[in-house]
Amino acid sequence: MNKYKILSLFLAIALLAAQARIFMGDKAQEVSTSEAVFQNILTRSSIREYTAEPVSRTTLDSLCRAAMAAPTAKDQRPWKFVVIDDKAVLQELASALPYAQALKTAPAAIAICGDPTLMNEDHRPTEWWVEDCSAATQNILLAAHSLGLGAVWLGVYPAKTLVASVSNTLKLPSNLKPLSVVALGHPKGTAQPKDKYAKDNIRYNVGDFPNAQAEEEEESTEGGGF
Ligand SMILES: Cc1cc2nc3c(=O)[nH]c(=O)nc-3n(C[C@H](O)[C@H](O)[C@H](O)COP(=O)(O)O)c2cc1C
Repeated sequence: MNKYKILSLFLAIALLAAQARIFMGDKAQEVSTSEAVFQNILTRSSIREYTAEPVSRTTLDSLCRAAMAAPTAKDQRPWKFVVIDDKAVLQELASALPYAQALKTAPAAIAICGDPTLMNEDHRPTEWWVEDCSAATQNILLAAHSLGLGAVWLGVYPAKTLVASVSNTLKLPSNLKPLSVVALGHPKGTAQPKDKYAKDNIRYNVGDFPNAQAEEEEESTEGGGF
């Protein structure tokens, strides 16, 4: 083998090794990204107490960006987001929502609102705004957790009195309904995420859910049967 052949062989091996490294690097990156996403989902938990540290408007804007990345029926995007970082308004909201004690220490919150007056092709009001705004709410919770922030979903819709008090406090236009308020802040203390996985909640294809048989038998003996 002359020296040119040896050099070509060496270059070919080096090229292959470099390509393999690039390929393996991408794969490794993919695996760690999916692990990180799963970890973020599985370790999220509702946080209801926060330190006094503020949440920057840049971060709050990023959370709204995450919200607007949610899936939305017919791509209608029927949402509007009211970002609240004024302590006085947060306290007013805390008084308006009986189960929203989290707002007492939260330095910020986002009200996720939907527009049910948007029309479908058949000119009927859209009914998907609830699902769309729920998906947006969950995106905010997950994005906040990924940034090390604590957050909790405070339910508003469909409780009529809560919808009225939040609309009134935030001076919402009449076409908008608040679905939820997410309280946000830097967590005070640590929280243990709940493991809610239950195999019995899963069924593949057609058939009974696991344990459904046992539950039916229990019911029939309780009721005396026919
Ligand atoms: C529709 C909805 C409404 C909720 N409303 C409230 C609320 O008003 N106040 C509150 O403290 N938590 C509220 N939560 C948070 C739940 O209590 C919490 O998600 C549940 O206990 C499970 O705990 P985890 O989020 O830590 O997994 C609400 C959650 C959902 C999905």
